[in-house]
Amino acid sequence: MKQAKDFLETYPKKDGYQQFFCPGRVNLIGEHIDYNGGYVLPCALEFGIYGVAKIIEEDKLILKSRNMELEVEVALDDLEYKDEHGWANYPKGIAKEFINRGFKLKGMRINYYGNIPEGAGLSSSAAMEILTCMIIDNLHNLNVNKLEWIKLSQKVENEYIGVNCGIMDQFAVCMGKKDHVILLDCDTLKYKYSKVKMDKHSLVIINSNKKRELSSSKYNERRDECEEGLRILRKYKDIENLCDLTSLELKQFIDKIDKENIRKRVRHVIMENERVINSIKALENEDLHTFGKMMNQSHDSLRNDYEVTGYELDVLVDEARKCDGVLGSRMTGAGFGGCTITLIENQHIEKFEKRIKKVYKEKTGLDADFYYSLIEDGVKKI
Ligand code: GLA
Repeated sequence: MKQAKDFLETYPKKDGYQQFFCPGRVNLIGEHIDYNGGYVLPCALEFGIYGVAKIIEEDKLILKSRNMELEVEVALDDLEYKDEHGWANYPKGIAKEFINRGFKLKGMRINYYGNIPEGAGLSSSAAMEILTCMIIDNLHNLNVNKLEWIKLSQKVENEYIGVNCGIMDQFAVCMGKKDHVILLDCDTLKYKYSKVKMDKHSLVIINSNKKRELSSSKYNERRDECEEGLRILRKYKDIENLCDLTSLELKQFIDKIDKENIRKRVRHVIMENERVINSIKALENEDLHTFGKMMNQSHDSLRNDYEVTGYELDVLVDEARKCDGVLGSRMTGAGFGGCTITLIENQHIEKFEKRIKKVYKEKTGLDADFYYSLIEDGVKKI
């Protein structure tokens, strides 16, 4: 937090800078179903990305980050994606999308500083996108509503960056609410907040530090597989999304799908959606044991049916489940590396952390990083 303070003090409001913050997110359950019209249960975190910005005379974007050496200066009429622009493609893409929608933008200097662990799957890219939306909107007094920021950011990620993600991450980092999880229906975008009451328990986030190689191509492959499943099932039932099917209907139709991999993907999606519904009920009843059970089932389904976990995440989860006080543990986010979350009784946390770090290192050669975060608000002006 000291670094964040220092960053904000370097670009003070008295020098004309406006200051903003967008958090990362973690998803408690409902994985790989946002793009299948399902329910998800994310929340915004304490760490995220800070942005300071002001309008400049020249018609260009001057983009800097405290975390990266690369600085980029581009004219506002030359915002095409360029590989060599690395991280700066995110803000460039957002600015381009505002311009495509007819907004006339002025030149801007924007500086970023992030304390979201990079590559951990805690949505640093969504945070960068939504943060940039808020900056552009505020600096130009556009008053575009937040839902438009969310959709616009997802479009940039899909079409400009080339990752075919769903809407969960952008929604969570934008709409997060302190001490609450968001139950989001990704089909209708209706949502409700639910207060998390956990006095004696915590959700611990563990970074596997496994590089997420090929994660975007594998991610896009899973989306294609779901679409294939949907095309087949639509011959038998008039549905818009895979998540429109119930588990009972799934039993009835699953044999119509010849390919085993497609059958498995579809099974994960439909069962996971039901788990989210059961999870929110459990959370609301303060029944953490049932919630933990759902977490475990979710991971097992992501491992066996959706096949997005991998050795490192499986070791973290398997070992966590052996520890005292653990109610449930699962991977979170896209998978193929990244983080797990574990629901555990507070009194056991210290021993848990020690043991997992040791065993994980022995089994994988990697260090596991532990994060303890409060649930915080979504994007905001500081
Ligand atoms: C990534 C994507 C999300 C979602 C998750 C998996 O985080 O950006 O849209 O699909 O993976 O649940």
